[in-house]
Amino acid sequence: MYGIFLFLHILAATVWTGGHLVLACGILPGVLKNRDIEFLQRFENAFEKIGIPALIIQVLTGLHLAFRMLPDTSMWFDFNNPISRIVSIKVILLLTTIAFALDARLRIIPKLSQDNVVSLTWHIIPVTIISVLFVLAGVSFRTGWL
Ligand code: HEM
Repeated sequence: MYGIFLFLHILAATVWTGGHLVLACGILPGVLKNRDIEFLQRFENAFEKIGIPALIIQVLTGLHLAFRMLPDTSMWFDFNNPISRIVSIKVILLLTTIAFALDARLRIIPKLSQDNVVSLTWHIIPVTIISVLFVLAGVSFRTGWL
């Protein structure tokens, strides 16, 4: 079972982080240069269909993997414990991602236009950086970097 959870966790990570890197580095520069809002909307709609399920898989498998490593959840936010510290970082990254995603989904995307595409940009860039930090934190369980 552990192998299946880890496989799903890594597969969904490739979708979430990979998709955001394509959006931020491959799509966004052209959209901002040509003000091609319609193209961004088409990409967002397509990515959301696989991105949101991937994030849900990340949370469910991540919590299971964290629980497997630290069954005593009262230890989860003990920053002196190296494993607990990374789990805490993951939870903080997750809550930040959810805050940005909800704000973009509820406040900006419904009325996306030339006027507010820059504020959407200031949601896409941090969420992309956080998605890479998620991978760094995940790998740190093995490497002890964090
Ligand atoms: C979009 C969000 C996330 C991404 C991109 C992500 C990415 C990764 C990656 C790439 C690994 C390394 C796997 C390996 O070493 O083979 C990993 C491991 C891990 N992640 Fe995540 N993760 C995310 C969310 C979470 C969340 C929310 C939690 C729960 C608190 C979590 C808990 C873990 C744990 C415990 C491991 C270690 C698994 C093990 O080696 O047994 N992750 N993650």
